[in-house]
Amino acid sequence: MNKFAELFKSNEEGMINKFDHYFEIYNRHLEKFFDKEVHVLEIGVYEGGSLQLWRKCFGAASHIYGVDVNPLCKEFESKDENIKVYIGDQGDRSFLQTLSDDIPTIDILIDDGGHTMKQQIATFEVFYPKLSENGVYICEDTHTSYDPYHGGGYRKKDTFIEYCKNLIDKENAWQSNSSKLKVDEFTTSTHSITFYSGIVVFEKRKVSKPFAIQSGKRIFNTEDFQKDTSGKIKILRFILKKIPFVKTTFRNSKILQNIYGRLNYLFSK
Ligand SMILES: C[S@@+](CC[C@H](N)C(=O)[O-])C[C@H]1O[C@@H](n2cnc3c(N)ncnc32)[C@H](O)[C@@H]1O
Repeated sequence: MNKFAELFKSNEEGMINKFDHYFEIYNRHLEKFFDKEVHVLEIGVYEGGSLQLWRKCFGAASHIYGVDVNPLCKEFESKDENIKVYIGDQGDRSFLQTLSDDIPTIDILIDDGGHTMKQQIATFEVFYPKLSENGVYICEDTHTSYDPYHGGGYRKKDTFIEYCKNLIDKENAWQSNSSKLKVDEFTTSTHSITFYSGIVVFEKRKVSKPFAIQSGKRIFNTEDFQKDTSGKIKILRFILKKIPFVKTTFRNSKILQNIYGRLNYLFSK
């Protein structure tokens, strides 16, 4: 059973405005928070219905925070239900900063506000680093990255989707030899980025450098065919190491690893 979908269907209070396929996504990434003391922030309150939906799904111990630029949304605040509403513009970083100082660490953030590129990126940059270490960040309606009305356009450099594509590089920085792509806070705190149609989900978790492991016994004395089988690289490496300058300057350096890697790839083609 999908609790999110069930509660959405039976809703007779404030209107909720979502895409049909989002409920499966919520269930997949958020079910683990049910009945926990979870702090949920939704940008985009609209008619207040979604704040109620989160509250009912996550249970009595949950704390729900809503943000909207429309002052009328303040009316959906409810002390009894641990629902707080803040009025402000999610594109304004100083407002977001003040907000984040005012509320406890957030476990779940749902960005369903104005959906412009500037707003989505500002909200992500202020709140993602502050999300709890097992938190989930959901940016909704990312199809606006293709919509000129919201500042989008196919492969336009400053869209949220293009911004996220760069984050894929950061997630993989462990394997990079480039000085332009180094392991950072995002790399060590992001377990996954999942792209759906119109929605991107980030799951946080402490991550350490990935390492390969094996099990089972060797059947053949086989070579790894992705590696240099011709021995040309081994010979080249042997010769280069004989040159004193190379030996002292580049030994174990990333530059040399890079050269070996590229030559290996060329020879194996
Ligand atoms: C799509 S509706 C939100 C729907 C709601 N989350 C739901 O599920 O029913 C978008 C909301 O974002 C608000 N909004 C638009 N621009 C905003 C901004 N710059 N900052 C904060 N909220 C904004 C609008 O007032 C509107 O209530």
